Amino acid sequence: MELGVNIDHVATLRQARYVGNIDAHNAEPDVVAAAQISMNAGATGITVHLRGDRRHIQDADVFRIRERVKTKLNFEMGNSPEIVDIALRLKPDEVCIVPENRQEVTTDGGLDVAGQCDALRSTVARMNAAGIRVSMFIEPDDAQITASHLLGAAMVELHTGAFANAEGDAQQRELERIRNGALFAHSLGLQVNAGHGINYTNIALIRTVPHLVELNIGHSIICRAVFTGLDAAVREMIALMR
Ligand code: PXP
Repeated sequence: MELGVNIDHVATLRQARYVGNIDAHNAEPDVVAAAQISMNAGATGITVHLRGDRRHIQDADVFRIRERVKTKLNFEMGNSPEIVDIALRLKPDEVCIVPENRQEVTTDGGLDVAGQCDALRSTVARMNAAGIRVSMFIEPDDAQITASHLLGAAMVELHTGAFANAEGDAQQRELERIRNGALFAHSLGLQVNAGHGINYTNIALIRTVPHLVELNIGHSIICRAVFTGLDAAVREMIALMR
């Protein structure tokens, strides 16, 4: 299993003080440094979500990371014309198409690929034509997995948020849903990734899901990094993944 570190919340911390002034000589923390430290600690990718409202990661951040950090870049994006254009200019290794709603605190629920095929078809085709691998951030649901496959996505990222928020039997049921989704997606030839709400505790259960290739983890790693430093936080997660 590979780890993509989502560094959005490094930018959240910077925006808390330097919104509108990220190039100030004293602006911190530096998201490029966060990407480099994560990579040196063993992460195989860096994940950033350029939201329509630019609440954390900014346009300049993604281009700087692309230019200066030689690791796989996974660009999370809503399917809006503005962000699609940026992705095509940025040329990340991968895009993960996510639902976006300005009122949400974080990405709530998966993308309704089955219900939005028409709107997604040309975006997937344009990314594929540009050599950018496409992932769909979806619930572990057969209809969503099938639709992602039919649209030409190479990967799905199964949303683990409901699993992370559940406890006891309910969590086992959610885990079963993720397992079944992973088996079905793999049977269609899709790469299976997972993300959202994965932490240092529930990783033990996530590890039991078959066929997982990449986990994208942000909040828990950045939280731990506040106390241990980012290098140690990334290394500890990788050790638990293994
Ligand atoms: N994957 C996707 C598609 C996401 O939208 C997010 C949250 O931005 C994550 C992974 C990371 O989730 P978390 O911050 O809860 O680890």
